[in-house]
Amino acid sequence: MGVLKDCIENKDFTSIPVWFMRQAGRYLPEFREIRKRNNNFIDLCLNPIVSKEITLQPLKRFSVDAAIIFSDILLIPHALGQSVEFKRGFGPQLGELEINKVLEIPDSDILNKLNPVYDLIKITSKDEILKGKDLIGFVGGTWTLLVYMLNRQSPKKLNDNIFLYSNKKQLIQKIINTQKLHIKKQVDSGASVIQIFDSWAGLLNNDKLEEFIYQPTLEILEYTRKLGVQTICFPRGIENYKQYCDIIKPNAINIDYEVDPKTISENIEIPIQGGMDPKCLLLDKNEMLNKAKEYLEIFKNHKYIFNLGHGVMPETEPENLKILVDFIKDYR
Ligand code: CP3
Repeated sequence: MGVLKDCIENKDFTSIPVWFMRQAGRYLPEFREIRKRNNNFIDLCLNPIVSKEITLQPLKRFSVDAAIIFSDILLIPHALGQSVEFKRGFGPQLGELEINKVLEIPDSDILNKLNPVYDLIKITSKDEILKGKDLIGFVGGTWTLLVYMLNRQSPKKLNDNIFLYSNKKQLIQKIINTQKLHIKKQVDSGASVIQIFDSWAGLLNNDKLEEFIYQPTLEILEYTRKLGVQTICFPRGIENYKQYCDIIKPNAINIDYEVDPKTISENIEIPIQGGMDPKCLLLDKNEMLNKAKEYLEIFKNHKYIFNLGHGVMPETEPENLKILVDFIKDYR
């Protein structure tokens, strides 16, 4: 396994691992080329041969230290029997949620649907190009998955109906059980690190964090600890990252670009990942590198994994990513 895992495990202080959320995606012409021929995004995620190719595309261009599997957090609702479609220019659209059917769906049916993801991990983790590097598997956070399943599209703001749903507790437990199953299979298949994307954590008021974020995430982290896999959490937009870390105790924490990195570096001791605004990759080269330097300086006495505060934007010039990665590799 690679320097990312070593950094999180505290073994290696000397290098700064680097990878990017959404490093495989629409900013890459070679991804767009494949996407043109594959209209159905879920089918594309469930095609191990092609999704392996996409997973490795960024590694052919940049000296990143990890690949993240080409997949999507919404494969869990898909596996639970809720339809998921990606409409161009709109994002995901989920079908009617038949909650009683979801609650009864057996693990074997879920795994049948998700098996291609495990095949993808098996064939990708053995590829030469990943020698000494990590392969990151992932799931959405329980709260974020609940939001998508009930809201059926990306939320602009929180619809309070979500809290009124009957069977909510059983649905949350079903999501947690499926997340655990999905994590275990990814690890068994060769994922060396797991990231949990709780992309809508920032929508919740503080009085709801306990029920919708802390309790479910604690259960999952207790599970990943038993599996022995390093887990990075990304509760995007959460107000109090320190409190989150004190309660959840993830192995590493990804921060978003709205929090002050200096305060984070002073208050949080575990390895920190990310933070820089993805829009910085749209700036000119020097401005971009100055911003990167700011993060590297602030975290110079900290275990730090270079990444962004959200995914790479589709408008990004791939050449800028190359310049950035090379800069970070030369930094120490
Ligand atoms: O390179 C990687 O990071 C790995 C692949 C990956 C994708 N989605 C591929 C993808 C990962 C880690 C995700 C996670 C994901 N998916 C999240 C959490 C991170 C975040 O962005 O907050 C969320 C909320 C989703 C759900 C999702 N998938 C949305 C809202 C969208 C549409 C908006 C968008 O950014 O395009 C997707 C589609 C999606 N997932 C694309 C890719 C490459 C674009 C698909 C396309 O139209 O070609």
